[in-house]
Amino acid sequence: MKNLIGRPAGTSADRPAARVPAAEAPHTVTEAVLPGIVEPEGIELRTRPARPPGPGQVTLAAEAAGISFAEQQMRRGKYYDQPPFPFVPGYDLVGRVIQVGQGVRADLLGRRFAVLTKTGAWASHVNADAEDLTEVPESVDSADAETFVVNGITAWQMLHRVAGVHAGDTVLVLGANGGVGSTLVQLARIAGAQVVGTASPKHHSAVTALGATPLDYRAPDLDGQLRALAPGGYAAVFDHVGGDGIVDSYRLLAPRGTLVSYGTASTRDDLGSSKAPVLKLLVRLLWWNALPNGKSAHFYNIWAGRRRLTPFRLKLSADLTQVLALLAEGRLTAQVAARIPLSRVGEAVRLAESGTVVGKVVLVPGQD
Ligand SMILES: NC(=O)c1ccc[n+]([C@@H]2O[C@H](COP(=O)([O-])OP(=O)(O)OC[C@H]3O[C@@H](n4cnc5c(N)ncnc54)[C@H](OP(=O)(O)O)[C@@H]3O)[C@@H](O)[C@H]2O)c1
Repeated sequence: MKNLIGRPAGTSADRPAARVPAAEAPHTVTEAVLPGIVEPEGIELRTRPARPPGPGQVTLAAEAAGISFAEQQMRRGKYYDQPPFPFVPGYDLVGRVIQVGQGVRADLLGRRFAVLTKTGAWASHVNADAEDLTEVPESVDSADAETFVVNGITAWQMLHRVAGVHAGDTVLVLGANGGVGSTLVQLARIAGAQVVGTASPKHHSAVTALGATPLDYRAPDLDGQLRALAPGGYAAVFDHVGGDGIVDSYRLLAPRGTLVSYGTASTRDDLGSSKAPVLKLLVRLLWWNALPNGKSAHFYNIWAGRRRLTPFRLKLSADLTQVLALLAEGRLTAQVAARIPLSRVGEAVRLAESGTVVGKVVLVPGQD
């Protein structure tokens, strides 16, 4: 159990909250701002005075921050519950604690943590609640760890908490070269499952290297190929594409199979409401769950359950800790597509959206 506030775990010492020497505290913060619906080159860099961490918070000097599909949607104004423009995007980061606020254990100083932020991580320094931190093993590179924060939590929870995948199952992962997709493939293989993964042909060798059988999601006879590889149906299908194709995903399930829907990538460029595709999807899933056929259909949302904050945080941190331990043991391979300084954020976003990369483009704020 985490104990990052108040007394150090396992001691009775009442250490006062400490601050690092003033020289280490930042005077200014550099951050990337999404000013509105813009092309990647329209993302602005700004410098502002640093704010000290509030009670229960720490200041992290960012070492790596991820570019996720969520920001592709946000810069189009298409993410389900994004804040109003302008705002600082950035779903997750890995950073080192350089300042602790009131009530936070001083021994966090100098240690490296991962944190899921949803927005705000594309910055040189980030203030975060100490209770949201998960420690990163020192043997692991920051950018490598970064690729498994939102991706690792999402993949782990969908695989083990939603679908309950077991050894011997055959599962289907759409977008098996993407950040979440490539993590799903690896975790499913570690769990002993056989994995079929859809991806563009240029990514097939990478998907094969992860241990999955790749198929081209644009192939005219995709359905036949998928059925040939799992004649009894799939124990689980992981679908981030949504749209009408979700019907095919559901039909591919084995009699007691589980559909895990977790995105609507196919509607990223559609005009209109950002909420409508998700609501339409939820209605479909509800309807399918009412059918007496033994199959189940879920929408996974990483933020679900946050109203009960303490168990939410503990579950999230426990799951991420397991993923980072697998990385430290060398059983997971980080898919870092590129490491790009925060000052070149537009270029980094352009690359992440190019459809040419395997894995995650990582911003490295310290290397400006
Ligand atoms: N529900 C949640 O809590 C949650 C949490 C995290 C992520 N997500 C969702 O997970 C998805 C993946 O995120 P990510 O950061 O891993 O993205 P990513 O690294 O950019 O990967 C996206 C993947 O989707 C494929 N793809 C993109 N558009 C597609 C389309 N129209 N049809 C089929 N495949 C398509 C890409 O294939 P190509 O490279 O061949 O284009 C790539 O494999 C996103 O939809 C994101 O919103 C949801």
